[in-house]
Amino acid sequence: HGAVNFDTARFPPLKNDLYLRAARGEQTERAPVWCMRQAGRYLSEFRAIRVENEFFRVCRTPSLATEVTLQPLRRYAGLLDAAIIFSDILVVPQAMGLDVEMVPGKGPHFPSPLRSPDDLARLVDRNEGFSVDAQLDYVYKALTNTRHALGGQVPLLGFVGAPWTLMAYMIEGGGSKTFAAAKTWLFAHRAAAHELLARLADVTARFLIGQVRAGAQALQVFESWAGELGPRDFAEFSLPYLARIAARVKEAYPGVPITVFAKGAHYALELLATETVYDVISLDWTVDPRTARARVEAALRSKSVARSVVLQGNLDPTVLFADEQTIRDRTAEMCRAFGPTAHIANLGHGMMPAHDPEHLRVFLEAVHQSSAELRQ
Ligand code: CP3
Repeated sequence: HGAVNFDTARFPPLKNDLYLRAARGEQTERAPVWCMRQAGRYLSEFRAIRVENEFFRVCRTPSLATEVTLQPLRRYAGLLDAAIIFSDILVVPQAMGLDVEMVPGKGPHFPSPLRSPDDLARLVDRNEGFSVDAQLDYVYKALTNTRHALGGQVPLLGFVGAPWTLMAYMIEGGGSKTFAAAKTWLFAHRAAAHELLARLADVTARFLIGQVRAGAQALQVFESWAGELGPRDFAEFSLPYLARIAARVKEAYPGVPITVFAKGAHYALELLATETVYDVISLDWTVDPRTARARVEAALRSKSVARSVVLQGNLDPTVLFADEQTIRDRTAEMCRAFGPTAHIANLGHGMMPAHDPEHLRVFLEAVHQSSAELRQ
């Protein structure tokens, strides 16, 4: 693999590099802004595609993945500063040999989840001839196709789910209220849990590197279920694997910004800042941005870690259910709380199906205005 794909000169030149400059810690004229789940069911044009096409079919068909990725860019012309490739974190368990279905109105469903450590033998990632790049080539094709179709409007983000979050889905077989089955593994089958986490870290790191080769210009790692672990278990079962993934990607592509979103892990801000090499830490809405900034800066100082950390976030997505003036006020408050540098604006989690697309526009416009004012 490689020689041809590695050559990024074959892609159109980037016209808006605000996101990349901010992610590298450079001073920018305003905060860049994008949204998790910016392509999704809140958009009628997305639902129209989904009527005809099953969820994973969209992921597996580069022309459809490109179309859906571009939908929010088209609707909010000039307002979004990044595109995120349309795919899902669960393509990795699929690549490792587990079936996953997307059940309308319910979410992901694994018909045969991992029930005991013996089931690790069903995973194919240690089989002879297994190749992450071959299994997930359809994602690479979607990235390459989308990067061309973007025509350099904004950078294209790739992503993966983090090992603990993927492990939780693979054992629970879907969403869960208590994560009792997955958490049981952490205590009753601790060695098997670490084996699975290590295998997932290996596959996801390779997958991220392949995504950059295919055209991704920045990366994000989603540890969506970090909040289910307390500080003790996060330090053992999540952090080391998150750290390993970032280190491996940085070794391959030192210049590609990488973000970690450990949802609910406000207790782990210091560790994420000092024990990993993520350029950007994405915050959910349960953390005050001023407090987060102060804690990160203090941790870097006290450990004498000479690197800068950019923060992303973190408006409560449900604020988009409020009236337009409230959205503007809350967005302005948020931008002030992050301050005039080292901020990528986003929601604290993804867009929801019930959101009014026009309210997202109000948020995006408010970020443009408030964050520019802050820098005057
Ligand atoms: O626009 C984007 O952000 C890019 C695409 C994207 C999707 N999923 C598309 C999607 C991304 C980055 C994801 C990541 C993802 N998937 C996460 C991590 C982020 C987070 O939300 O915490 C997780 C946990 C998943 C797993 C997943 N996929 C769930 C729980 C669901 C069902 C819940 C829901 O919102 O519907 C999905 C389905 C899914 N992935 C949809 C989309 C647009 C909606 C499903 C549909 O079209 O039927």
